[in-house]
Amino acid sequence: MITFDNVSKVFDGEHIAVDELSGTVEEGQLVVLIGPSGCGKTTTLQMVNRLVEPTSGTIYVNERDHSTFDPVKLRRTMGYVIQEIGLFPHMTVGQNITIVPDLEGWDSELKSERAHDLIDMVGMDPDIYLDRYPRELSGGQQQRIGVLRALAVDPDILLMDEPFGALDPLTRDQLQDELTDLQDRVKKTILFVTHDMDEALKMGDAIMMMQQGKLLQFATPDEMLQDPNNEFIAEFIGAERMILSPLEVPVKDVMRGSVPEVEENATLDACLRAMQDAESDYASVVDGRGKLVGMLNADRLQKLVDDRGRNLAVGEAPLNHTSIQQRDNLMEAVHRLVEEDCDVIAVVDRGKRPVGTFSRASLPQILADKIWPRDAAATHNDNEQSEVEDSQ
Ligand SMILES: Nc1ncnc2c1ncn2[C@@H]1O[C@H](COP(=O)(O)OP(=O)(O)OP(=O)(O)O)[C@@H](O)[C@H]1O
Ligand SMILES: [Mg+2]
Repeated sequence: MITFDNVSKVFDGEHIAVDELSGTVEEGQLVVLIGPSGCGKTTTLQMVNRLVEPTSGTIYVNERDHSTFDPVKLRRTMGYVIQEIGLFPHMTVGQNITIVPDLEGWDSELKSERAHDLIDMVGMDPDIYLDRYPRELSGGQQQRIGVLRALAVDPDILLMDEPFGALDPLTRDQLQDELTDLQDRVKKTILFVTHDMDEALKMGDAIMMMQQGKLLQFATPDEMLQDPNNEFIAEFIGAERMILSPLEVPVKDVMRGSVPEVEENATLDACLRAMQDAESDYASVVDGRGKLVGMLNADRLQKLVDDRGRNLAVGEAPLNHTSIQQRDNLMEAVHRLVEEDCDVIAVVDRGKRPVGTFSRASLPQILADKIWPRDAAATHNDNEQSEVEDSQ
């Protein structure tokens, strides 16, 4: 958690770069800091890891006044990723990733294991890439390594200053997706600087909008789209984004939470109990690595138990294999439901791990919420129960 309490930075006794900033980045949140060039984003970020000292005000890191930390130690507990990557050209990719573990005195076996695990997480083959030099990688690959390096000692906090700013739009989009997936798994507290509104809306749990050192609005992407604080923000967002069609929203914004997960070699009986414990009508069946194999509903499960006995492995059961990526939009999710003629589909991340479910029964409420946000929000809770009942 990072808290800014009335923080200002004045350079050279007169130039106000950051002006009485207050706000909290909650644990596990990705907060985007956005605003035009020179508005104080980098200065704000660098005050957190004390590359720049505030002129007044206090920053708390995990509720401790951060001026009481040793700056060097503080910096090592925070990952820092910048646009220009800053990989060392004479070091291999593996050595670059483990710079901080090296400073911390890890032994070589542990370092190489860490480098392996990290590079594997972004789908790059350790055997091919760990011994390469940065110049032998594409820009996108180098930037991935920059992110992994920041994660090497598993810091709670990640500071990212336009980390994807120098990449072409396609690669940038891909790295944004990868970071989102990574964040779903590692749940870091991230302060992320950009001046690209699309990136902010896509990545942010919340957005801090700055102008000339001042914080103008601190809100969720939805709130900011629906209710920008002033003209400047509305203009920055752009009219076309403010009327995002409800069918274009990503499934992850409208899905329901996960259903219980059961490993494929568990018995039908164990599956039944997991569903009863969670009071869920569905279970996700996953393999040993947590990837979705398929979904099973209570009726079908009961029938299987009757026909084939309680000890059958769930992996052997006929499952509903339909799933959709959390970033796919509502339109695609609806298509999938219709195509596959099912009531519920699993929502997965890029690693195919289940993150939620999307059901036919929830559709009317989702559309109502998107089209009439305020009124619908008031009645949403009342409707939730009957909707759950409908889907049974
Ligand atoms: N070391 C410094 N000395 C004097 N002024 C500085 C210093 N660093 C930054 N500034 C000034 O503080 C203001 C904020 O700079 P900052 O780098 O935080 O902006 P930014 O929002 O990150 O901009 P950009 O989007 O261009 O990266 C600018 O007007 C800048 O000129
Ligand atoms: Mg900057």
